Amino acid sequence: MEVERVQAIATLSMSMNTIPHEFIRSENEQPASTTVHGSILEVPIIDLNDPDEEKVVKLIAKASSEWGLFLIVNHKIPSEVIEKLQRVGKEFFELPQHEKEVYAKPAGCKSMEGYGTKLQKEVEGKKAWVDHLFHKIWPPSLINYQFWPKNPPSYREANEQYTNYLREVADKLLKYLSLGLGLEEHEMKEAIGGDNLEYLLKINYYPPCPRPDLALGVAAHTDLCTMTLLVPNDVPGLQVSRDGQWFDVKYIPNALIVHIGDQIEIFSNGKYKAVLHRTTVNRQKTRMSWPVFLEPPSDQVIGPHPKLVDQGNPAKYKSKKFGDYLYCKLNKIPQ
Ligand code: SIN
Ligand code: FE2
Repeated sequence: MEVERVQAIATLSMSMNTIPHEFIRSENEQPASTTVHGSILEVPIIDLNDPDEEKVVKLIAKASSEWGLFLIVNHKIPSEVIEKLQRVGKEFFELPQHEKEVYAKPAGCKSMEGYGTKLQKEVEGKKAWVDHLFHKIWPPSLINYQFWPKNPPSYREANEQYTNYLREVADKLLKYLSLGLGLEEHEMKEAIGGDNLEYLLKINYYPPCPRPDLALGVAAHTDLCTMTLLVPNDVPGLQVSRDGQWFDVKYIPNALIVHIGDQIEIFSNGKYKAVLHRTTVNRQKTRMSWPVFLEPPSDQVIGPHPKLVDQGNPAKYKSKKFGDYLYCKLNKIPQ
């Protein structure tokens, strides 16, 4: 049976100026009634190339403790490399439907990889206004090229170039995050998988929506990985939760958005916070985003680092294999 993609539903909805009921959020989730308007949040913006490393470590630690989210600029990924990644991703989603379905996530397959639309409905049976493509980009031994589009032909080169630059950024951030906890610079990366850390790319494709006041792109969540490095297109939509209210995050061209995920919150014993976030959609424009999730290998045990735990500050989280954590979170089993 052909799966209904949001892209197709969107085309129909635009012509009828209405959306199917399963996309209409309950009132306590609807963007129109839950967003604080007129106040765009000034999330921390960090210059990754500042020669004063101690200052950068402090800023990153503060942002990760208070927000769990920050923007980085001067990350050394050339804007052409980012633009190319965005161009080839957009070209893939603009292919005729049957060409995209070649990459559809195989039914019943445990891995996330492939083109798709979230099949299981969320709480209260609501659906998200988004289609996606997932595939690993690192390490090379884990890449399944069957999920990398062949069209456009430069898709592979664009993704490989971006990956090479992104790995440098990730290493730098992990080093600073580790130092920010008073640990040695290598200790965080080592504890979350070292060179076996897996990079999973997702492309989110949020088509225009005639009722952006009622629907959501992605519902509220924290990322279950260690951290997420994301580039968006220029259509705003990311929101973060502060004190129970939702705020828009400002779009800054060429900045990378860093989300602290559950595994770094756990590793830091709660000093760093995984950010609660969601996305809204746009009436006229297609929003796209390219998050890369840094995931530990599935049998990597993650727990609060021993140096961050003592009698006065006991472990706030259980130590667990990442694979088990993932299973519980995806199946809504308490951790
Ligand atoms: C997500 O958090 O899943 C998506 C974030 C975004 O599109 O900006
Ligand atoms: Fe997320």
